[in-house]
Amino acid sequence: MTRILGIETSCDETAVAVVRDGQEIESNVIASQTDLHARYGGVMPEQASRAHLRAILPTLDEALAQAHADWDTIDAIAVTHGPGLAGALLVGVNVAKGLAFARRKPLLGINHLEGHVYANWLRAPDARPDEPAFPMVGLIVSGGHTDLVAATGHGQYRRLGRTRDDAAGEAFDKVARMLGLGFPGGPAIEREAVAGDPKRFKFPRAWLEADSWDVSFSGLKTAVLHQVRDLGVDTDHASAQERRAHLPVADLAASFQAAVVDVLATRAVGAARTFGATQLALGGGVAANRTLLRTVEERAQLPVLCPPPALCTDNAAMIAAAAFFRFRTGERADLTLDVDPGLPIA
Ligand code: KG4
Ligand code: ZN
Repeated sequence: MTRILGIETSCDETAVAVVRDGQEIESNVIASQTDLHARYGGVMPEQASRAHLRAILPTLDEALAQAHADWDTIDAIAVTHGPGLAGALLVGVNVAKGLAFARRKPLLGINHLEGHVYANWLRAPDARPDEPAFPMVGLIVSGGHTDLVAATGHGQYRRLGRTRDDAAGEAFDKVARMLGLGFPGGPAIEREAVAGDPKRFKFPRAWLEADSWDVSFSGLKTAVLHQVRDLGVDTDHASAQERRAHLPVADLAASFQAAVVDVLATRAVGAARTFGATQLALGGGVAANRTLLRTVEERAQLPVLCPPPALCTDNAAMIAAAAFFRFRTGERADLTLDVDPGLPIA
């Protein structure tokens, strides 16, 4: 039995988890800063770092207590070292290094995006779903990233495509603001879209070059902005209440969501077919979107893995899960481990 303590502070969640054998969650504690950043309509980096500093030690204590774990039973400490906000990553990395040194534990630096894919390995104790299997195509869709990767084994990735401009989650957040919905925008748009007509507005899908797996959402975002203006809203000055009162929010949300989902599902399913994947794995905050999951499942003729919504968004259990497979092969970081805000998946 291997017990790994995971630490995640790359963006706006301070998270610590204890995971057994890369799969069983013994604790998964998240101190969210959503309320703090909602006031500004986006993540404020400086504020995020300060909030991580305040939250990290109580979160750590809580994660150890919930797992009934004392330090003797922890085999390694894993921490997200990139990509993410530099000042936010520094909090987690420095705490992890301090703990590894003081408690004499092995240390591993984990890529946040790899973590999102490994959320698919997590399960409740006693559950026995299919084991993820290779070769696999992974679609990582979060607030900062949109990457399509082919994985032939643990840690063996090739990036097939990425966004040329906005990340999928970023597009959700920006369009939510245009419609007068709160932050984060993804869940708000998904909620509104339930009652909306996804065909009312014909928003563009950017297919780019035939031989590319890249995606782009800036044209879509601009099309929504123009539509909102055409519907009579002053997009520079209107308050959130004015927007909501004036706009067919549900239809706009549903039509926008349909365009994003169409592009992501087409690319992911196409890549899985082309690369002979046996499974298609989704991960990242936008994978919490059930319309995305349903659409991918309808179109893919192979098993689709997607974590439950709470494990799609940022958490530390996924970091501990990714670390398990690296720990097993003997990988270790030393105390020179540094943050890498632009760390790519491959
Ligand atoms: O993975 P994540 O928690 O943090 C990053 O690594 O960025 O992703 C956060 C992003 C936000 O942009 C949020 O709006 C989006 O994921 N998101 C969603 C949903 N839940 C969160 N987007 C669409 N539908 C959702 N249900
Ligand atoms: Zn993330």
